[in-house]
Amino acid sequence: MSRVALVTGGSRGIGAAIAKALKAAGYKVAANYAGNDEAAAKFTEETGIPTYKWSVADYDACAAGIAKVEADLGPVEVLVNNAGITRDAPFHKMTKDQWDQVIGTNLTGIFNMTHPLWPGLRERKFGRVINISSINGQKGQFGQANYSAAKAGDIGFTKALAQEGARNNITVNVICPGYVATEMVMAVPEKVREAIISTIPVGRLGEPEDIARAVVFLASDDAGFITGSTLSANGGQYLS
Ligand code: CAA
Repeated sequence: MSRVALVTGGSRGIGAAIAKALKAAGYKVAANYAGNDEAAAKFTEETGIPTYKWSVADYDACAAGIAKVEADLGPVEVLVNNAGITRDAPFHKMTKDQWDQVIGTNLTGIFNMTHPLWPGLRERKFGRVINISSINGQKGQFGQANYSAAKAGDIGFTKALAQEGARNNITVNVICPGYVATEMVMAVPEKVREAIISTIPVGRLGEPEDIARAVVFLASDDAGFITGSTLSANGGQYLS
């Protein structure tokens, strides 16, 4: 029987590529999204993957959303914590609200999603939790004190939870994408973006599928011995 996978932020960008790749690999996939109804409807129409709307920043909404997905598709065995936002500003201009929004979605969001699922994964003695962090959680980025802090937190979360999940055959890993050609990166001012691309040894932005293939591998039974690991997929831009 095919496993159920839930991808947050799964209707656009990297998340959409992950959802599609998991479906192609035989999973029953649900894609969560927070705001863009039009993009979600288009995604479902094109892929046949159902979309579910809630904010990962809201614990109760996550618990209710997960319950709905499980009622529709069965117990979630693969969770991909991909949802993320940016509110870039140099620190002297960064507001408390910009800090709270990014920490709430990009860091607390992975707690909010993983915590309600955790008892079921432990009981069934199988799970794959794959967190999507960022190169900027590894190296820091000018203008992203909030984002870099959250994404670095995602890596620490992964390493702690991997140790707790291991005895129940739950692996927890984190992928750190570099700059990938999505709306988020295209929103960076063009000059800044060009400067960033010039520092990527492979000479191009990543494609969402570059990340999706790594997720499919980490979700597979073949990856059962890999847990607590940080996988960089950044075209050689930062070697940790
Ligand atoms: N290093 C050093 N100095 C920098 C700098 C950098 N990387 N970027 C900007 N500065 C300097 C500017 O040159 C400027 O200096 P002067 O005042 O001497 O000219 C100063 O900082 C202020 O710059 P701005 O006036 O442009 O400030 P701003 O408020 O308009 O915007 C910014 C600053 C928001 C940080 C903007 O530069 C920016 O968007 N940078 C890109 C940040 C980035 O890489 N975000 C990643 C988004 S994609 C993503 O997050 C996905 C992922 O995981 C990879």
